Amino acid sequence: MLMKEMKYDIKDINLADQGKNQIEWAFKDMPVLKQIQERFIAEQPFKGLKLSACVHVTKETAALCVVMKAGGADAVLVASNPLSTQDDVAAALVKHYDIPTFAIAGETVEQYKSHIKEALNHNPDIVIDDGCDMVSMIHAERPELASKIIGSTEETTTGIIRLQALEAQGELKFPAVGVNTSLTKHLYDNRYGTGQSSLDGIIRGANILIAGKTVVISGYGWCGRGCALRAKALGANVIVCEVDPLKALEAAMEGYRVMPIEKAALEGDIFLTVTGDKHVIDVKHLLTMKDGAFVANAGHFDWEVNVGDLRAYTTEIKQIRPSLEEYKLNNGKSIYVFAQGRLVNLVAAEGHPASVMDMSFANQALGIEFLVKNYGKLENKLYTLPHEVDVKIAELKLKAMGIEIDTLTPEQEEYLNSWKF
Ligand SMILES: NC(=O)c1ccc[n+]([C@@H]2O[C@H](COP(=O)([O-])OP(=O)(O)OC[C@H]3O[C@@H](n4cnc5c(N)ncnc54)[C@H](O)[C@@H]3O)[C@@H](O)[C@H]2O)c1
Repeated sequence: MLMKEMKYDIKDINLADQGKNQIEWAFKDMPVLKQIQERFIAEQPFKGLKLSACVHVTKETAALCVVMKAGGADAVLVASNPLSTQDDVAAALVKHYDIPTFAIAGETVEQYKSHIKEALNHNPDIVIDDGCDMVSMIHAERPELASKIIGSTEETTTGIIRLQALEAQGELKFPAVGVNTSLTKHLYDNRYGTGQSSLDGIIRGANILIAGKTVVISGYGWCGRGCALRAKALGANVIVCEVDPLKALEAAMEGYRVMPIEKAALEGDIFLTVTGDKHVIDVKHLLTMKDGAFVANAGHFDWEVNVGDLRAYTTEIKQIRPSLEEYKLNNGKSIYVFAQGRLVNLVAAEGHPASVMDMSFANQALGIEFLVKNYGKLENKLYTLPHEVDVKIAELKLKAMGIEIDTLTPEQEEYLNSWKF
């Protein structure tokens, strides 16, 4: 398609060359995806299929779309978050990769929704989603599209929770693959990716020293473990808040202090939520925090910290830095909020490094291939990719890292499969 015939909505096409450099830079650190791309070019598994992707528009997701297109997909891309778009990448996708993109950093919620609608007008056969907004819109507003859809893949924990709810109500209208459930996704992306990039967002967003600060992490799941690990490594005193006794115990065994948010709110200098829940830090907690406390969220939606209702107790909101606002409270204190309560790692930094997304997006690409190969054989359910796919991705990654591992001897294999004395 010629660019002048293409429909798209981006900030500035003149950013395209800079965006192309960024995409190529990310691709250098995505050896697993590159190997999948080579096979897709030869096999063309998505030839003739229309793909609508609703993901964070970053240099790494751009690489995924380029790989899907190399496999024959007619791809359209929209943002899965109004603030996380890298405008130069969006421009490059349009100009250099011929992929219609509808995403502008800072778009309004209305624009965000209208962009998803544009992607649905593409009449997709396959859907890649991050947070389930696109699949949710198909079910709620465009159900007539569902019969043509071969299936969808879902990137994140929050999206999987929404898909599970659709499945439980018997409402899911096509098969879906929960990419997050793969070990090579959540063990790496959620833990090491979110761990590093969320701290990176806090540091870039405010340029504050982490060492010696009390950092409160709400949620000790896969993301929370990574965030606590990296905060500790930077010299913070880490407090963990949890609702699950097993996770709370694990955090205590790791050496973190564990306490309810009511108590932690009084002690923390920096707060980071990663739960997938709502109002985990509520107004009553925000009001008791120390003057000058910093609050960030790395969970999928912007309601983990109840910033919305804090406005009623705020005399002024001052933009301090691009991703940092000061809420001057009517109790005389100030609270600093990162990225309007949206994903701090994607808004104040650049999301996960490419080498982490390499594994997540290998799962995405192979997840779509799994749906296409099994077309007609799957039920309208939420699937996990077969274990062999996880193992294959881990093997490819180890190979790319130059790491060799041991192999079971026939004697060991027999021993491990035997029940005899
Ligand atoms: N920022 C990113 O790049 C990124 C990456 C992956 C996942 N995510 C998102 O991060 C969130 C967490 O993902 P995860 O994979 O760690 O999920 P998870 O299910 O492994 O962990 C979430 C944890 O939060 C706890 N929790 C729930 N409500 C709580 C509350 N009120 N107070 C304290 N703890 C509470 C749960 O018990 C659980 O242990 C999700 O929204 C997910 O979509 C973000």
